[in-house]
Amino acid sequence: MLIRDATDADLPQILALYNDVVATTTAIYEERPSTLEERQAWLEERRRRGFPVLVADSGDEVLGFSSFGEWRSRSGYRFTVEHTVHVRADRRRRGAGRTLVEALFPRAAALGMHVMIALIDSQATASCRLHERLGFEPVGTFRQVARKFDRWLDLVAMQRAV
Ligand SMILES: CC(C)(COP(=O)(O)OP(=O)(O)OC[C@H]1O[C@@H](n2cnc3c(N)ncnc32)[C@H](O)[C@@H]1OP(=O)(O)O)[C@@H](O)C(=O)NCCC(=O)NCCS
Repeated sequence: MLIRDATDADLPQILALYNDVVATTTAIYEERPSTLEERQAWLEERRRRGFPVLVADSGDEVLGFSSFGEWRSRSGYRFTVEHTVHVRADRRRRGAGRTLVEALFPRAAALGMHVMIALIDSQATASCRLHERLGFEPVGTFRQVARKFDRWLDLVAMQRAV
């Protein structure tokens, strides 16, 4: 498995993975599937800002992706980033998620970042465990701040020093 920067050619697989997570989980607080144009705009914006978008490449397919971007827009927050990670449902529990997040750490350090933040749905046990294992510390829970699949959702905030 190779971790590398995403290319435009990866976008259809990134889109398929993103839309599967939207349709089947509460890991993304969105109900509408995304489009290739939206994923392209997202990738271009991350590149423009110098932020990484990484993929785990098995050799012939994208197993997952990770990325970070601005957490909040006011200038005081410029040393803090919020990251995301998603792995294909049929390729989980094989180390891709851990490797994708670990690969973000040197990128954040190289950009002079100070803190990384993960905002995780409280029911996303796998993601909560993964982040605990990587040294992220839970710092609070926002209760019932989102709604999906006809229920209220709690959002857990976790952070780690870069
Ligand atoms: C969360 C996610 C990215 C983990 O990716 P993964 O490739 O399966 O994770 P890894 O194989 O690298 O596992 C790393 C650690 O995470 C924890 N973990 C992963 N899946 C888990 C599960 N289903 N239950 C409990 N712990 C789990 C374990 O501690 C694991 O270490 P171990 O296998 O040595 O015990 C993946 O499950 C996923 O994409 N889920 C849906 C979308 C999502 O929740 N994204 C995160 C949004 S913040």
